[in-house]
Amino acid sequence: MLKVNKIFMVLCVLMAFSTNTMMQCQSKEQAYFSPGKLWQDNTGTHINAHGGGTLYYNGRYYWFGEHKSDTTSSALVGVMCYSSSDLYNWKKEGVAFSVEENRNSDITKGCIMERPKVVYNKKTGKFVLWFHLELKGQGYVAARVGVAVSDQITGPYKFLRSYRPNPGIYPANMTDKQKKLTLNARDYDKWWTPKWYKAVSDGLFVKRDLNSGQMSRDMTIFVDDDGKAYHIYSSEENLTLQIAELTDDYLGHTGKYIRIFPGGHNEAPAVFKKDGVYWMITSGCTGWDPNEARMFSAPSIWGPWKQHPNPCVGNDAKLTFYSQSTFIQKVEGKKDAYIFMADIWRPEHPIDARYVWLPIQFGKDGIPVLQWMDSWNLDFFSLK
Ligand code: GAL
Repeated sequence: MLKVNKIFMVLCVLMAFSTNTMMQCQSKEQAYFSPGKLWQDNTGTHINAHGGGTLYYNGRYYWFGEHKSDTTSSALVGVMCYSSSDLYNWKKEGVAFSVEENRNSDITKGCIMERPKVVYNKKTGKFVLWFHLELKGQGYVAARVGVAVSDQITGPYKFLRSYRPNPGIYPANMTDKQKKLTLNARDYDKWWTPKWYKAVSDGLFVKRDLNSGQMSRDMTIFVDDDGKAYHIYSSEENLTLQIAELTDDYLGHTGKYIRIFPGGHNEAPAVFKKDGVYWMITSGCTGWDPNEARMFSAPSIWGPWKQHPNPCVGNDAKLTFYSQSTFIQKVEGKKDAYIFMADIWRPEHPIDARYVWLPIQFGKDGIPVLQWMDSWNLDFFSLK
């Protein structure tokens, strides 16, 4: 009898242990966003998809972002994918795009792979992933964009190439006079002087990089209502934003591009369109440290773009609530509902970087406003 009791007790302990372990492994269903807090996926692990973007496809949202490790921001894994039907609860789909072991590959393990964005091409039925690539061991010198493609949204994405966009082609909004100027970077080694500003504005770095293609670092991809896609990126030593048209299959550049806010030092572009107006939120250039967001609008992707005040209001508005923009997602099925997505970087422990998702509110004259919220959910959009 004693023996049976003992076996029963051991069984009970084992059951209690396994239930507890299961509970630890499965996160609770969430029905709200908690900006800046740890955000667990369905396995109970903090979501690892930084500098990312989302794509709505067939009734689900897919979140792609940089996999970060605990000790380095360099890519040891690649681009992660998560999926969700409600935007709060995310299922880990795994590595969508992997770094390669081959040391001669552009995307060899240890390269820098940042700000991945996936778009769906209706004509080809393919998913296209664009990202900022820096070659291993070269810091941020390469300044390239990379492109990969997949038949399935969750991957695996196949790497096609990396390059600097539009070699040999001048931006559409550079004047003939500017094109004819001879500007030599060596004559302008002292930055931020009026003479230097003028030269930057006239295309100092466009000319320097004309043959190799334009520098391309922080980036996003925007798909317009007519299906045309655009690559928007920090170029010209991060001083100037460029907007470049992609080919119909979204796999390359057409050669048409413009430059905006020369010398404006904009990074981390995130774009959305509402009532025919294109809105863009960016950050300044202070690396992993937060700074004050900037906002711009235009009646056409080709401009004219105009600058507005910082969209953030309230405490820490001047530091974008300690975060940096990465993407803006429209909430399907809700009117005028857009989510501003940003990263709170943790360069000492990159894997611990946090996400800030906030609703975009529209103030006077329909101007976007961002306000901090400790917690909120999608009902916010119906309450307006
Ligand atoms: C940030 C940029 C990030 C990353 C970082 C490196 O300004 O937005 O994507 O490149 O600099 O310092």
